[in-house]
Amino acid sequence: MTNNIYFIANWKMYGSTSSINSLNKLINLSKLKKYSKAKIIYLPPFTLLDAFNRKFKRTKISIGGQNCHHIQDYGSFTGSISPKMLKDLGCKFVILGHSENRMVGETDADVNNKIRSALNKNLKIIFCIGETFAEKKKKITHSVLNRQINKGLKGVKNYNNILIAYEPVWSIGTGVIPKEKELEFNIAKIKKILSKKTKNKLPILYGGSVNNKNISNLINIRGINGFLVGSASQNTKKFIDIIKKTIN
Ligand code: PGA
Repeated sequence: MTNNIYFIANWKMYGSTSSINSLNKLINLSKLKKYSKAKIIYLPPFTLLDAFNRKFKRTKISIGGQNCHHIQDYGSFTGSISPKMLKDLGCKFVILGHSENRMVGETDADVNNKIRSALNKNLKIIFCIGETFAEKKKKITHSVLNRQINKGLKGVKNYNNILIAYEPVWSIGTGVIPKEKELEFNIAKIKKILSKKTKNKLPILYGGSVNNKNISNLINIRGINGFLVGSASQNTKKFIDIIKKTIN
């Protein structure tokens, strides 16, 4: 892997105010020249964004939100967080279209509205796509990816701030990762779909059960620019190990 390599820690609904104590070793690692290609991004729950922002001050580690409302600024939407609020807390990123949100009703159109709104507020988007196990079995993976990309990015004109996270839903939290050939094939397909929309080469990340053991195989997959790590990222030792094994 050349250029920047992304390591995204998606903490989901985990972590407490004491969790930030575990991050010192990671901060030290991020300052080493050897790891300057590593773009480390933390996505803690909303409740911890401010603490993480303070902790990562004067480091190159960025933070991002785990979702946002499609209204950019303010509004009467109890329980929601807007792109403006994420910016206010120091976020540079927001992850959108995660399958855990799609599963509870978020549609391609919802994801599209949120993406356009967050881009307008100068947030960088980690745009998640991926097929379910049933879709894979039906051999419709590529049409699913095509639909998610085209509907999710409808009306987007500037692709400078978009990263794609390919996460097969059947791989998230299951310990099962796609076979090398399948993953390379799907990533090539994603690139082809994107090439019809933009000349930009968007970073493509893989997510789904990435850990400090299978990372040694995943780094050999062609076309990957980084990893979106869920449960293994909540253990800072394991997350550091993933970074070290990728950049050695
Ligand atoms: P996992 O989660 O690494 O625990 O499979 C990945 C994700 O949902 O982003």
